[in-house]
Amino acid sequence: MNLVRTYGDGTARRAALQHVTINLYPGQLVLLMGPSGSGKSTLLAILSGLLEPDSGQVLADDDGQLRDLWQMNPQQREHFRRKHTGFIFQGYNLFPALTARQQLELVLLWGENVSRREAQRRADAMLDRLGLLPNRHKKPAQLSGGEKQRVAIGRALVKNPTFMFADEPTSALDWENGQKVIELLRDAAHQRGAAVLCVSHDHRLLPFVDVYYHLDDGRLEQRPLPVAHS
Ligand SMILES: Nc1ncnc2c1ncn2[C@@H]1O[C@H](COP(=O)(O)OP(=O)(O)OP(=O)(O)O)[C@@H](O)[C@H]1O
Ligand SMILES: [Mg+2]
Repeated sequence: MNLVRTYGDGTARRAALQHVTINLYPGQLVLLMGPSGSGKSTLLAILSGLLEPDSGQVLADDDGQLRDLWQMNPQQREHFRRKHTGFIFQGYNLFPALTARQQLELVLLWGENVSRREAQRRADAMLDRLGLLPNRHKKPAQLSGGEKQRVAIGRALVKNPTFMFADEPTSALDWENGQKVIELLRDAAHQRGAAVLCVSHDHRLLPFVDVYYHLDDGRLEQRPLPVAHS
């Protein structure tokens, strides 16, 4: 709520977000659009607890209690992030030394108390949904751009997060695979009750989402969806 974030100091100081308030609800897929440099990645980083705002609050339901993410101490915030949030980074952020399957296994072994066997089973099930099972033993350098993007998506979704942040998850994909990704995000919201915030430049995604926000030069406004919304 009322989030402000600036970069730089002195005369180079520039506001990336100017009093932005956004609500994310369980079961909703929210699309965030806006020109390059308008502050979209900055907003996602603040909401997910990765980047501290200059002022404003990020209120989140933490097992029935409303808490400000940025009033928690770093350990509490890290715990919250690990337990409740999934993030798909613009530019994948995969571990170069790990195979596709290991990338997914790792978040399960870290974030949840599951056995290696169970982690492997869930990793493979997710890779299968993404059409990546034949690639599961490949490392990022051996994968195409679109395949890397899908591994990053699988890694964010595999632990069934409460909050899901996706920064241009379809940018490296053709329309068919892009549609699959948006359907996965929609399932995460509609079937598993996650609150999903997705950044994209692709207007073709509008019919798939529940709410649409536009960010321009650090100012956010909610926009109506096309009438033929299904
Ligand atoms: N670490 C940083 N230091 C200084 N300025 C930054 C930093 N990160 C972002 N900015 C500036 O803040 C503004 C918002 O950046 P941000 O990455 O949030 O934009 P974006 O909407 O995600 O753009 P894109 O669509 O290109 O990814 C831009 O003007 C950018 O140059
Ligand atoms: Mg960005």
